[in-house]
Amino acid sequence: MAVAAPPRPALRIGSMDLTSPVLIAPMVGITDAPCRELAVELGAGLVSTEMVASEAVVRSQEASLHLLDFPRGVGPAGAQLVGCDPKVMAAAAQVCVERGAVSVDVNLGCPVKKVVGRGGGAALARDVHATAAVLAAMVEAVDVPVTAKMRLGWDARSINAPELARALEDVGVAAVTVHGRTRCQGYAGEADWAEIARVKAAVDIPVIGSGDVEDLRVLERRIHEGAVDGVVIARGMLGNLWMIRRATHLLATGELLDELDFAARIELCRRHLDMLVAYHGAQRALRTGRKYVAWSIKGCNGAARLRAMVQDLDSLDMLHTIFELALHAGLGPQGWFRPVFTSGEG
Ligand SMILES: Cc1cc2nc3c(=O)[nH]c(=O)nc-3n(C[C@H](O)[C@H](O)[C@H](O)COP(=O)(O)O)c2cc1C
Repeated sequence: MAVAAPPRPALRIGSMDLTSPVLIAPMVGITDAPCRELAVELGAGLVSTEMVASEAVVRSQEASLHLLDFPRGVGPAGAQLVGCDPKVMAAAAQVCVERGAVSVDVNLGCPVKKVVGRGGGAALARDVHATAAVLAAMVEAVDVPVTAKMRLGWDARSINAPELARALEDVGVAAVTVHGRTRCQGYAGEADWAEIARVKAAVDIPVIGSGDVEDLRVLERRIHEGAVDGVVIARGMLGNLWMIRRATHLLATGELLDELDFAARIELCRRHLDMLVAYHGAQRALRTGRKYVAWSIKGCNGAARLRAMVQDLDSLDMLHTIFELALHAGLGPQGWFRPVFTSGEG
């Protein structure tokens, strides 16, 4: 009797077999445990914490350790660290693994002054040797895959992502994610996927693409043509978590599922808020969840009045009322639209 071959992993990163090449990008203020749980449920191959400062982790600062919470059964989930001291980063990586991270990523792309001013994020990536030393110490310190997320370079005249990726591959880094913009670009202009493909051509480890991941047929083509091994979804899923299911389903089957209608979008947001409440408690969940509610009702009739209510959202009754009013008002003629986001930490 023929024995069916085990399904081929969609993406292998070091020792990890992932079921989808569609991953969720680390995002400050977004990718907490409930968001990651929902993203995994929707099919994401790997989810990540937001970036966490390595110094704070080794000092056992409570708020940072809280970001490194890996509830059992929610995963695969990796941690992302930011910092530039090899010893501190190695020690922090060990803490991540002890707490349940299945991989540890290093933020080499953060453009914000607070981080680059201390030599981390995109500032570290300017120095290939120093970056390789940090990653080498981490690879030595933990048994899980160590990965890195970088931009193309500091500015248009100093593109170094292919060279940096090669140096990291040499010290045992298992995969790199490349955001196709430079540090000086911030979020301006379009992500340059031709430059990302140059990184892919330079290394044998998996290269994950990042930047303006919105059009799912384009995403599919880039993976099928081998321009990248996987992609991370970031701003595209804000107010639109269903995008994860559409992307993972498309990659697995070739079939493009419909967008959610307005009622189903509100229902998914309601579910997300329920999960936030269960995890953080009502008060904190309503504070952090306001943005999700505002994003999901974009394009709704009478949105200005609802937006004002969302800003004052402080009780579960009010949350329920906002959802009911939005459903009753329905979508306006322009339909749902994406929230605009022109900054971020990577
Ligand atoms: C609100 C926000 C927070 C972010 N936080 C992080 C982070 O913690 N670590 C990181 O490597 N990148 C971070 N990023 C960058 C994203 O992971 C991603 O690389 C970037 O948004 C480009 O992808 P996109 O154009 O599809 O959004 C953040 C982006 C945004 C918008």
